[in-house]
Amino acid sequence: MKRLLVTAALPYSNGRPHVGHVAGCYLAADTYVRYQRLTGRDVRFVCGSDDHGVAIVLSADREGKTPAEVAEYYGKIQKEDFESLGIHFDVYSSTSRNPYHAQTSQNFFLELYKKDYFEKKSTEQFYDPVKKQFLPDRFVKGVCGYCSTPDQNGDQCENCGKVLDSTTLLEAKSVLSGEPAVVRETVHWFLDLSRFSTVVEEWLDGATIREHTRNYVKGLLSSGLIQRSMTRDLSWGIPVPLDEPEAEGKVLYVWFDAPIGYISNTMELCAERDGDCQLYSKWWKDDECDILHFIGEDNTIFHCVIWIAMLSAEGSFRLPEGVIVNQFLNIQFPNKNEAEKISKSRGTAIWIGDYIRQGGNPDTLRYYLTAIAPEKSRAVYKPEDLVQRNNADLANTLGNFVNRIISFTKKYCGDSVPRAHSEQLNEVDRAYVELREKAFSTLSQQLDTFQFKPALETAMEFARASNRYVDELAPWKTRKDDMVRTEATLKIALDSIWFLGVVLCPFIPFSSEKILALFGKTLSEISWSDALEPVPVGSPLQEPVIIFQKMEASDWIPEESV
Ligand code: MF3
Ligand code: ZN
Repeated sequence: MKRLLVTAALPYSNGRPHVGHVAGCYLAADTYVRYQRLTGRDVRFVCGSDDHGVAIVLSADREGKTPAEVAEYYGKIQKEDFESLGIHFDVYSSTSRNPYHAQTSQNFFLELYKKDYFEKKSTEQFYDPVKKQFLPDRFVKGVCGYCSTPDQNGDQCENCGKVLDSTTLLEAKSVLSGEPAVVRETVHWFLDLSRFSTVVEEWLDGATIREHTRNYVKGLLSSGLIQRSMTRDLSWGIPVPLDEPEAEGKVLYVWFDAPIGYISNTMELCAERDGDCQLYSKWWKDDECDILHFIGEDNTIFHCVIWIAMLSAEGSFRLPEGVIVNQFLNIQFPNKNEAEKISKSRGTAIWIGDYIRQGGNPDTLRYYLTAIAPEKSRAVYKPEDLVQRNNADLANTLGNFVNRIISFTKKYCGDSVPRAHSEQLNEVDRAYVELREKAFSTLSQQLDTFQFKPALETAMEFARASNRYVDELAPWKTRKDDMVRTEATLKIALDSIWFLGVVLCPFIPFSSEKILALFGKTLSEISWSDALEPVPVGSPLQEPVIIFQKMEASDWIPEESV
């Protein structure tokens, strides 16, 4: 098995994580990493904050802080909030504080420069005559010239995903002064993406990628790639490493340095864990390692086109094996009759930190966000749905099955696992055990192919079948006159509890830990194939604990928060 490097998009460090972020890529990446580790694979999971770019400068401006302060403040919260949901990265660094990042990015830029991939051009950029400064990316807003959606940033249209510039963003206004933006000349270094269309196309053909992503990227390729500036007029960022007068006061485009953060964060991890940052090449340059990027849909063009172009131009790193893209998650509050965008400014975000501080179970949120994961199309988060799913699926179906079987066994068979005499097994038992084996192979295949939502459904469908199984064989009735039959039912049900404990690890690790503990085991000592191992007859059963608390709708269903 090859080693695996998994990355999750580096979030901009100008805000706290909300449910949309988690559903976008962090939860899927964590689920996959946990699954791969259970199968015995050597995995490193890399993330960190994306500190540069205009978004951070604007937030700093609003909050009366420096960009570095804003980045540090939110970077720390992000790390803690992800951790509180069990989303555990091997490294969570930051593009402004990682000691390797600036140098790695500048070297990368210089390599492309030496190979003559950049074209230095004087071009027209938006300029704010009141503030006397250039207005890259999000410093300007206007109407998308492709699809006419109003209120779009000067970097990318949220609706059609097209990249916008001074010729395609219409009715542009400065975000800083609110005044109309004028167009002025400035010098920048451009990468001609059209030179890479064959490379991108070939990569796309062999890449592990969802169908909708493949089609979207094909669409981008067929509408033609253009030159894109890799530098910006901005004072916050990584200085353009050139000895030319026009490079003065300019920084690398944030989308140039951010993905390089995956590399520099790997360096920091290797320095920390292996004592040598240069060992990062084991993960980035070695054929025995695959790289997978998990991202949200708005990051597609940057990972599947620009990053592929950058990597192949630089030449010394491996291209990613795949890019796994989730669509957006919208939200619908019970007092609204339609779904809307999750947005901080519109007050429609549900924050991870708030949920946890209010006593929310991390696994409930993990469960719900995977159950509605926007894997094939956009999905809608509904607060009442979270409560309903917690109570029906987790507390009733799963929690109840576990608790009633463990309690019943301990009451009538003692504190250890009873035996199932094979001559006792009937058609119902055999069909049920077969179902478990089938669920295992379906689940494994679904996880191997990044279908987390269907995989979770497979596990839950088996939990429902388990309740039907015990209802049908009714051990509470058979115990009166047939203890041998009763023990067989309980033993088979206990094997299923163990099975569920193992296969649910990637999805709801905190609860899995509790289930495995009933058999005296911990997460760290199990592997994926243990799921189908019968629990040893005679092994001790621990006291049952409540795994899922019911949620009160009134505590958890907000009207739209402001
Ligand atoms: N900061 C970007 C966002 O939040 C994601 C950057 S991903 C990376 O949309 F590749 F650039 F690191
Ligand atoms: Zn558009």
